[in-house]
Amino acid sequence: MTRPSLVLAALLLAACSPPKPVATITPAATLVPDIGYPQTPPDVALGAQIFAKRCTACHGEAGLADGPLVRAKAIPAPPQLAAWDTGWDKTPAERFAFIAVGNMDKMMPPWNEALSEPERWAVTLFTYTLHTTPEQLEQGRNLWAAECASCHGADGRGTAEADINLSDPRHMIGVSDETLYNSITHGLADGSHVFAQLDDDQRRSLVAYTRSLSVANPDAIGQPLPAETTAQ
Ligand code: HEC
Ligand code: HEC
Repeated sequence: MTRPSLVLAALLLAACSPPKPVATITPAATLVPDIGYPQTPPDVALGAQIFAKRCTACHGEAGLADGPLVRAKAIPAPPQLAAWDTGWDKTPAERFAFIAVGNMDKMMPPWNEALSEPERWAVTLFTYTLHTTPEQLEQGRNLWAAECASCHGADGRGTAEADINLSDPRHMIGVSDETLYNSITHGLADGSHVFAQLDDDQRRSLVAYTRSLSVANPDAIGQPLPAETTAQ
């Protein structure tokens, strides 16, 4: 059929059919819209389970982009999620948004239907822990107690000295690893907060530890994945 006759047919149809009562129109199945932020601290133990089941086929068990589908050359190698450089300047909110829609041009699936919003926050924050070893987390914990807790509190909730809650997931999903690193390297506007005595490794361990203050089950960080995995 050519275009003009299609339009004509549509007009005729519209003229003939009586208006339908709205109630008889069956609503299309709709996705529950995202709230847009975690309502409780993202659970990285849950995130590890989801990663093991849904992500390792491509990203590999340790996030080294060596999953079976990549090794079989069925999928182009993704960035190594376990590398500090990958997503260094990306906030968890930005990574969450990408995981929801994916990029099927490069074979990264969308996850907004298969996983609930809390599950997607859990796996998003889990990916931020792939570069962290238990030793690093322990180093960060000790440095935090020595250098940071006096102002930020043992749990990161802040004190009169530092009126900012670093354990609040709603705040921390807007903060990249780079921003965390820079805040203790280039310091605050008044030139303080530089911590010249810390080396690069110590700063990174503090980035990892600060991040751990806003998640649930931080003990899962740096641990082997739970048994169920799609990687062979
Ligand atoms: C079928 C293979 C496959 C699976 C399964 C998969 N991914 Fe991916 N992922 C990719 C590919 C390929 C890319 C690179 C996409 C691009 O370059 O745009 C990617 C990119 C990403 C990125 C962006 C990295 C960056 O900063 O550039 C994140 C984050 C990510 N995936 C997380 C996940 C999570 C979480 C899961 C599981 C819930 C998952 N992926 C499952 C293939 C996969
Ligand atoms: C002498 C007090 C003090 C100490 C010690 C201190 N901080 Fe802070 N910190 C502050 C203040 C004040 C702010 C700014 C709070 C605000 O934005 O209102 C801040 C802000 C921050 C921020 C947020 C920066 C941003 O851009 O939003 C981070 C992250 C941080 N501190 C981490 C640390 C870490 C890690 C340590 C230990 C190495 C540390 N702080 C030690 C006082 C301190």
